[in-house]
Amino acid sequence: MSDKAAGNGDADTVTITENSSTMHFPNKNEVFYNKVQVLNRDLSITMIRLHGERMLKERREKVEKKKLRKIFYDNPEKFELTDKKKKKSKGPEPDFLSQAKENLKDVDWTNEVRSEDAARKLHRSAVLNNTPSASLPPSPPPGLKIMDCLAASGLRSMRYYHEIQNLDLVTINDLETPAITLAENNIKQNSVDPTVVRTRVGDGTMLCYESRNGVESIRPDPRNNPICHPSFPLTGRYDVIDLDPYGSAAPFIDGAVQSVVDGGMLNVTCTDMAVLSGNHPETCFAKYRSMPIHKGRYLHELALRILLQSLESQANKYGRHIVPIASFGIDFYIRVFVRVFDSKAEVKKSSLKIGYVYQSTGCPSFHVVPSGTFTGKSYVPQVIKSDLVGVDGKCAETGKPFKVGGPFWTAPIHDLEVVDKAVKRVENPRDYGQNHDPLPTSKRLHGLLTTVSEELSDCPLYYLLPDLASTCRAQVPPRGAFLAQLEELGYRVSATHKEADAIKTDAPNDVVWDLMRNWVRLNPVAAKRERKDESKPNKGETAGMLILEKEPKFFCDFKTKKNQKLLNRKKATRYPQNPEANWGPKARANVTATMANVEEVSKRKIAEAGLTEEKDAKKQA
Ligand SMILES: C[S@@+](CC[C@H](N)C(=O)[O-])C[C@H]1O[C@@H](n2cnc3c(N)ncnc32)[C@H](O)[C@@H]1O
Repeated sequence: MSDKAAGNGDADTVTITENSSTMHFPNKNEVFYNKVQVLNRDLSITMIRLHGERMLKERREKVEKKKLRKIFYDNPEKFELTDKKKKKSKGPEPDFLSQAKENLKDVDWTNEVRSEDAARKLHRSAVLNNTPSASLPPSPPPGLKIMDCLAASGLRSMRYYHEIQNLDLVTINDLETPAITLAENNIKQNSVDPTVVRTRVGDGTMLCYESRNGVESIRPDPRNNPICHPSFPLTGRYDVIDLDPYGSAAPFIDGAVQSVVDGGMLNVTCTDMAVLSGNHPETCFAKYRSMPIHKGRYLHELALRILLQSLESQANKYGRHIVPIASFGIDFYIRVFVRVFDSKAEVKKSSLKIGYVYQSTGCPSFHVVPSGTFTGKSYVPQVIKSDLVGVDGKCAETGKPFKVGGPFWTAPIHDLEVVDKAVKRVENPRDYGQNHDPLPTSKRLHGLLTTVSEELSDCPLYYLLPDLASTCRAQVPPRGAFLAQLEELGYRVSATHKEADAIKTDAPNDVVWDLMRNWVRLNPVAAKRERKDESKPNKGETAGMLILEKEPKFFCDFKTKKNQKLLNRKKATRYPQNPEANWGPKARANVTATMANVEEVSKRKIAEAGLTEEKDAKKQA
């Protein structure tokens, strides 16, 4: 564990310092802290910081656009009109948004966020000090509202509060009272502005449903905590919603896609990998309305795409759609960051972004087929022509039938421009603000983001090189040479961020197998490995034999040892080993133990810190 995420404590408490925040945990309830998730929190902070800057940029561009339009109608001769606009029957109008973007292209948005943050803090403290309204500093435009929907101890929120600028509100919500009691005690010891951070005990789904129309009530909170500070009334949708459950996020998705603002960010973790990877297809279908492929080689990516499909389809019901910012398979869970937009026109296109995989039951060949197609006028169902998936509906290599997996998200799963920015932030944190110190897991985070930045995010799913080789019972070809050969043939290639052995490519199955045929021609399979077994129903004829029986359509020699991506890639710690043994999920919180322990331990801690209400009252007197 990094020294920035270290723990110590006495017999009945554990004190954890994770970067900016120190938390006291009752020892019996160690489940509230899982250090495996430090990377998840570091990643989330990086992505939310970038989102905050983007929201500010987009807001300013809109203001600039309005300004330009006003100037135009005062002086139309100042503007050049594009051909497209000239043709409009309503009358010509310049592309104000592009001009606004151009005008603001050199603005340092990190700096702008910092200035707004300072202005917000000044304004808040003046309001709290009862400054007469005539002397109040100007009120800054709205900052970020973040919902930590399943917060547990609130450590994530505490870090968001300390490490993300320009915040208006962080709501720490959990179903369990002991978790929120713990969060409240820790808030008191973390110099947190109570007008920004608030706590709530209640069902996260209800919080989402109540926030979508700005009618959030305090009914479920047994302590009657106010919705927010009376001086800063903030209700309604959130700019960022974080869903970090134990297991599946499915129960929270319908509410969350509605309660995030237009263009807002939804951050979702799912840890139910056994379900998403096909061990329980019926449960996956029930929760995500998608059939996973059991033992699919592309397990983590399919899981990500199933979750994205679920977000998209639930958002579509409300005239909204998603745009993935970045999607990660990490350790034992998946985590996606998406934006949610209102757009009926984009919702219509959804069938082009959702599709199915036809997975050969005989070999690793697969075909991805979108649900819909665009005729130029309308969106209609895809027609499965005989050669779209194999030959006559069977695998072209082995003649075996297909299994159909999906529906899942087939469009890009990352916005590579944002991911590139994230890589730079992690490389040079100090260039991006005084309090942007290196994050506790920055080395791992850098490796993860770098591998994502190199990924072909628009080529769904992948092959595993050892799997291709074992199908042919051949030696595993050198990865660099295999990728270089595909590149020489004119195809795009990459690894994936989760699997070092993965081959992502836009090359069709037959080209990939022709490469294997060439490889086996140069490196023949040992005779004993290709023996037939006459006693078996198909005479022991393996998928590899069927594949290798065919002549390749081209010849290649694998002489180029490294592909361009390998040659040009930057230095990073890719695919690191687990930092320690038993790296994985922890059991759920033992609420009964917690109930008994939290109150007692945290009261003592607060007393030690001299922060009891009694002392406060005395001080004030
Ligand atoms: C994995 S933990 C959250 C960890 C936390 N986000 C972090 O980064 O440390 C999941 C939490 O969700 C809470 N939870 C479960 N169902 C809930 C619901 N319906 N509404 C709100 N919270 C819920 C549990 O009490 C638990 O504390």
